[in-house]
Amino acid sequence: MSRYVFDSSAVQAPERFSALETCYDPVSRLRLAQTGVGAGWHCLEVGGGGGSLGAWLADVVGPTGQVLLTDLVPQAEGPLSERPNLTVARHDIVNDVLPDDAFDLVHARLVLLHLPQRRAVLDRLVSALKPGGWLVLEEFDCGWIPVLSAPDPGAARLFDKVHTHLMRLLTEAGADPLWGRRVYGAMFQAGLTELAATTYAEAWPGGSPGIHLHRVNTEQVEDRLLAGGITFGELGDFWSLLKNPAFAVNSYPLVTVCGRQPR
Ligand SMILES: C[S@@+](CC[C@H](N)C(=O)[O-])C[C@H]1O[C@@H](n2cnc3c(N)ncnc32)[C@H](O)[C@@H]1O
Repeated sequence: MSRYVFDSSAVQAPERFSALETCYDPVSRLRLAQTGVGAGWHCLEVGGGGGSLGAWLADVVGPTGQVLLTDLVPQAEGPLSERPNLTVARHDIVNDVLPDDAFDLVHARLVLLHLPQRRAVLDRLVSALKPGGWLVLEEFDCGWIPVLSAPDPGAARLFDKVHTHLMRLLTEAGADPLWGRRVYGAMFQAGLTELAATTYAEAWPGGSPGIHLHRVNTEQVEDRLLAGGITFGELGDFWSLLKNPAFAVNSYPLVTVCGRQPR
């Protein structure tokens, strides 16, 4: 059974997907395009969330291609309708059946980080590739998000305190907040070749779409943060800080690793 902390049936999920898509889709599209994905390809988008990348892939592979977008909680709304070459399925990547040798491209962004069984899931994704197929994994390294600007020294301390508690919750649920830095090595050990990795980060000032991710994430686990030692006042001050243009924090660095199944 999955212990995914940010259950996608929660009211905060659409805002989470929107923040991720705004900040990271341009990077993801660039990296995916570098695999050569094009007409006729068969693609698997794992944990596709709001669906923007699945829809984009469907447009790229065209009528002779196919995209299968899976998620524990497929979204009913969004850009996924009216594309005959796009199938959306409820599917647990840890436990449900996945075909072997089926896909030219498998992509997952910010999914394996959350799964205690991430190494086994990686092996499953590799098995799902056709010979010569590409795996593209994109994961956060949550270990480098320095505060870049703060209205006062206490603000930086408050940000770090709340964020540290959030990371503790994720870790207790089996996530690995540092998975981003381990993906390249894991994909090498899984037998993939032609490995390439890049890391993308930017500043998230108060009030920006990216920093809103911290709002929805902490809001969704508010009860657990309060039970774990964050006070109601601290949480309110944290949420105010996220709207303050004098505050800025580094985005989560997104590590993208591409690797190829040997022919
Ligand atoms: C952080 S969101 C990322 C969504 C999307 N990939 C993106 O980057 O915008 C993680 C997604 O993985 C899905 N997920 C979590 N556990 C899963 C599992 N065991 N199998 C399939 N999807 C899962 C969640 O429902 C959610 O949509």
